[in-house]
Formats: sequence, C-alpha cells, structure tokens
Amino acid sequence: MLEFATWFQGTPVSVWLQSTLWIVPLMQSVHIVMIGIVFVSILMVALRVMGWIRADEPFAAVLNRFTPWIAGGLAVMAATGLILVAAEPVREFSATSFWMKMALILVAVASGLGFRAALTPEKQLAGGDNLHFSGRSKALAVGTVLLWLFIIFLGRAIAYDIEIWGPLSLNQRFS
Ligand code: HEM
Repeated sequence: MLEFATWFQGTPVSVWLQSTLWIVPLMQSVHIVMIGIVFVSILMVALRVMGWIRADEPFAAVLNRFTPWIAGGLAVMAATGLILVAAEPVREFSATSFWMKMALILVAVASGLGFRAALTPEKQLAGGDNLHFSGRSKALAVGTVLLWLFIIFLGRAIAYDIEIWGPLSLNQRFS
C-alpha cells in the first residue's frame, strides 16, 4: 500500500493538489462542517431511540428527517476525504489512525444500514406507530454515538500518529 501511495504522490493529480495551496484547507473546512452535520443528526436519532427527545413524534418521522443529512454528509465527507488523501497519500497511508478510522467507518455505516433494514417498513417506517425501543436498542444507540465520537477522534489523531500510537504507529515503522 505504501508503495502505491509513494507512486501516487508523484502523479500529476497529487502534485497539483500539493501545489494548489487553497485546496487542502478548503477540503478540511468542508470535511469539518460535515462532521458537525452528520454527528448531530446521528445524535438526534439516538436521542429519539432513548426516548429523550421528540417522544411524542413517530420514530419514522425523526429517522426520515435526519437520514438525508446523514447520507449526504457522509457522501461529501467521503469525497473531501479522498481529495485530502490524494494530496498527502504517504502521510495518510502511514498513519495507524487513518486505517482504524476507515475500518470503523465501514463498521458504523454497516451497522447503521442494518439498523434501518431491521425496522419493518410497514410498521415502523410508514409512521403512525409510536415506537418504543428495548433496553438493548438503547444501549446500541449509546454505543453508536460513542463509536462516531471515536471515529472523529481518529480523524484528528492522524496528525499526531506517532505521539498517540508510539511503536504501534505505522509512521514509526516506515520511517
Ligand atoms: C469516508 C471517507 C473519509 C475519508 C477518506 C477521510 C479522510 C480524511 C483525511 C485524509 C483527513 C486529513 C487528516 C490529516 O491529514 O490530518 C481527515 C480529517 C478528519 N476526518 Fe475524515 N475522512 C472520511 C470520513 C470521515 C468521517 C465519517 C469522520 C467523522 C464523522 C471524519 C472525521 C475527521 C476529522 C475529525 C478530521 C480532522 C480534521 C482536522 O482536524 O483538520 N472523517 N479525514
């Protein structure tokens, strides 16, 4: 992978991104704004699962309100994130936090899709039914919020890979 990153860093696309100084800060800014949108949206759904907000509203209404923000925000984050990777492939690929973040994003997205699929459309998504969740579902909602917080931490931790992971940092091993 690192060989690929080293090769990619010399390609015209990557060199152009590296030499066009406004692109990386712009992409980082958009990435950060999207983190806010996606995280708050996930938090709202989780709080509704807990029954702490909008308990008078059908769960479907809350879920349907926030799903486009979560999906759209994640798509923009994937696009801006890929541009950031293309600008500094070796730095990203040699960060333990980067690979942990990618793996946990896959886990979080798969579990989110699984959660949605588990709700039977007729009963819960079509509305009407004021859904109450089991203790297990509430625990999963808390776990989901904590997982996304850890993903956000890992995003920030990419810049401090050696300081955070010490000998476990891929950066340490490759340098
Ligand atoms: C899905 C594809 C994603 C890719 C390819 C990606 C990639 C990146 C890259 C390359 C950076 C720059 C890190 C650095 O060099 O210091 C970054 C920053 C960051 N990412 Fe992502 N990311 C993605 C999604 C996400 C998601 C879903 C979250 C959290 C909800 C997230 C949270 C962060 C955070 C907190 C930063 C640090 C921003 C800063 O301090 O400048 N990223 N991401």
